Amino acid sequence: MIIQVILFLSVLILIPNVSGHSVGNLKYFETFSAITVTSRLKRSRDSQELIKDLKFTVFKRNFHLILKSGTNVLAKDFHAKLVEADGRTTSVHIDQSLLYTGYLVENTSVLVSAHIEDTLWTIQIHEYNDTYGIEPARNMLKSSDNPLNHTLIAYRSSDLTENAGKCATLHSESNDWIKQYLHPHHVNITSENHNQSRERLRRETYLQKNTCVMSIIADYDFFSIRCHSNYLTCSAIIISLVEHADRIFRSSKFVDLWNTIYLGIGLQIGHMLLYTAPTYTSDTRMSHFNAKGILWDSMDKMNSLEYYLSFRQKHYCITHLLTSYPMPERILGVADVKGICCGARPGGTVQSCSFTSSIDSSSGHLTTQQMKQTFTHAFFSEKS
Ligand SMILES: *[C@@H]1O[C@H](CO)[C@@H](O)[C@H](O)[C@H]1NC(C)=O
Ligand SMILES: *[C@@H]1O[C@H](CO)[C@@H](O)[C@H](O)[C@H]1NC(C)=O
Ligand SMILES: *[C@@H]1O[C@H](CO)[C@@H](O)[C@H](O)[C@H]1NC(C)=O
Ligand SMILES: *[C@@H]1O[C@H](CO)[C@@H](O)[C@H](O)[C@H]1NC(C)=O
Ligand SMILES: *[C@@H]1O[C@H](CO)[C@@H](O)[C@H](O)[C@H]1NC(C)=O
Repeated sequence: MIIQVILFLSVLILIPNVSGHSVGNLKYFETFSAITVTSRLKRSRDSQELIKDLKFTVFKRNFHLILKSGTNVLAKDFHAKLVEADGRTTSVHIDQSLLYTGYLVENTSVLVSAHIEDTLWTIQIHEYNDTYGIEPARNMLKSSDNPLNHTLIAYRSSDLTENAGKCATLHSESNDWIKQYLHPHHVNITSENHNQSRERLRRETYLQKNTCVMSIIADYDFFSIRCHSNYLTCSAIIISLVEHADRIFRSSKFVDLWNTIYLGIGLQIGHMLLYTAPTYTSDTRMSHFNAKGILWDSMDKMNSLEYYLSFRQKHYCITHLLTSYPMPERILGVADVKGICCGARPGGTVQSCSFTSSIDSSSGHLTTQQMKQTFTHAFFSEKS
């Protein structure tokens, strides 16, 4: 009897308290549904892009954004594949009209990055002292956290709980090596250069020499939980993660053992594999990293990834696995980085690899902002 009364009361308290409570990784958030969008198509000689004008009100503030579609983190020979349970693959196309970058109308030097998940916007507005995040409410909230059934959640990076999960590292020797080789001195998010010709020139020069072409794998947990089994959503999420890491890399200064400074190191995706089912394999030496019903810890997952990558022909600068498996001890990611962007180490054919999870075993689903930070961290190979 007493228990019933308490449950009833807690429901009563939750309902009026709509926009402004806390959940898992957020001390404060608001929910809303209305974004006004107008679109136009801009054609140029050999391409076309969508221009979107977005207006919405959240945190008692009116936002007005101008966004253009497309991405520049897909490598020239980029290909994406869906993988079925028996390992058969199907090639798929990426929809670049789901990916956007732009700026705030009230201050055009504020960078905005965005993508669409199913029909819902995910937006990051990088202001000088805070980052606003908008994303589908279903990514974070149970229906009890969202009594008005709003489609979107809004938060700021200052609303994230500081007590997040941690990243682990393997191979202490190679980690020292990577730390000395690629030490990020300054990690600044800079706004995009609006001078198109200069930007293009700079980008081309960098792309030839200083680009790490990655392979990205989404396992079935990530595909079914974070991507809601929609491969277009999945590829948009993945590309937005790489765009974020790429932007941070390009605006970072890396210094090697001999104090040579490297600027403008970028990331691209060469290959994307999305597992649409758990994998069954007859190999009994090692559980497949995408097998069903395994109780993983982070090192087992890494070992399995490395084992199965060792059969691969083509080597990438780094292979990154995205999962939604909640790792014990709140581990959000592990990196085993053996020579990122520096070519193969003499005598070694081992590949660099890393993984990140979108779920913290204690606080639950990460926000997109936290995922972007964790993902970017996975290449620096330093303890957070
Ligand atoms: C506009 O945004 C830039 C970059 O975030 C910031 O440095 C600048 O102070 C902002 N200007 C105004 C008037 O808010
Ligand atoms: C950012 O700056 C604005 C005013 O420029 C201020 O109202 C806001 O509280 C600041 N946010 C943080 C997290 O400092
Ligand atoms: C919440 O909204 C979704 C789509 O807008 C709808 O499918 C669902 O039935 C709604 N749920 C409730 C409890 O109203
Ligand atoms: C990064 O930002 C800080 C302050 O925000 C500034 O002092 C520093 O010069 C910036 N570094 C680079 C490489 O732009
Ligand atoms: C873009 O940069 C180039 C080279 O620095 C310069 O000549 C040109 O005037 C700039 N254009 C604009 C619109 O600022």
